[in-house]
Amino acid sequence: MSGRYAGRTAVILGGTHGMGEATAALLRAEGASALVTGRRAGDVHVDLTRLADLDALAEAVRERFGQIDLLHVNAGYAQLEPPEAVTESSYDRTFDVNTKGAFFAVQKLAPLVRDGGAIVFTSSVADQGGSPEMIVYGAAKAAARSMVAGFAAALAPRGIRVNAVSPGFIDTPSYGIEGISDEDRAAFHAVGDAVTPMRRHGTAEEVARAVVFLAFEATFTTGARLAVDGGLGEALDVPAAA
Ligand SMILES: NC(=O)c1ccc[n+]([C@@H]2O[C@H](COP(=O)([O-])OP(=O)(O)OC[C@H]3O[C@@H](n4cnc5c(N)ncnc54)[C@H](OP(=O)(O)O)[C@@H]3O)[C@@H](O)[C@H]2O)c1
Repeated sequence: MSGRYAGRTAVILGGTHGMGEATAALLRAEGASALVTGRRAGDVHVDLTRLADLDALAEAVRERFGQIDLLHVNAGYAQLEPPEAVTESSYDRTFDVNTKGAFFAVQKLAPLVRDGGAIVFTSSVADQGGSPEMIVYGAAKAAARSMVAGFAAALAPRGIRVNAVSPGFIDTPSYGIEGISDEDRAAFHAVGDAVTPMRRHGTAEEVARAVVFLAFEATFTTGARLAVDGGLGEALDVPAAA
């Protein structure tokens, strides 16, 4: 197989639709081999809330690839919930997927990342600032964002770089929201286009390009958070259109 990333191997946790799928497609188009997971679809079925699934994934990856060049921890979980609607179970699930699952995914799979390889998390613009309907999600992503720095330090001696992409409003089937209704989806679309300084939403492919950049091109970058949000997370004073 020819291509810029021929011979490279990647595992994408949460690669069956949305940004993860776009990243897998981009890597494969450039000659890499990508193993993708989902809860019900994908090459290996993994629910990030089940640590036994991660053990089984590590075994499957060892058998298929031996070592990998990229671990992409992309799967996430969000619900739109004002603070009074948060339940213990929705709180736990949000942290179980975005934070605990991400931590143990790296703990169990980092030994399979080759020295000099890369790990890329998918965080969110919500890991900074404040959104009343995403308090728990923002906190969970902020905690995972902190882990990016910790893992970057822990894995630097092996030459493994650990970074995060931080998407804003990205047009994926779910917009990152579990069980999103058509109405909420349309509202998200409109609000995203209105509040984003670039006045549009982003695409899964735009995030995929940032992931691949961090994974293979940003060879002197570790512990970093790369915003892919059209300026949403920055305090940009955008003039009104003429
Ligand atoms: N879309 C946005 O606007 C946006 C903005 C900021 C951040 N994000 C973050 O970006 C990432 C990708 O979002 P997306 O919009 O591309 O989402 P998506 O289309 O819903 O895809 C999420 C992927 O994760 C998998 N997944 C979901 N829950 C999982 C779990 N508990 N265990 C294992 N896999 C699971 C899904 O597969 P199955 O359904 O097969 O399980 C799917 O492959 C997420 O971390 C999200 O929080 C999204």
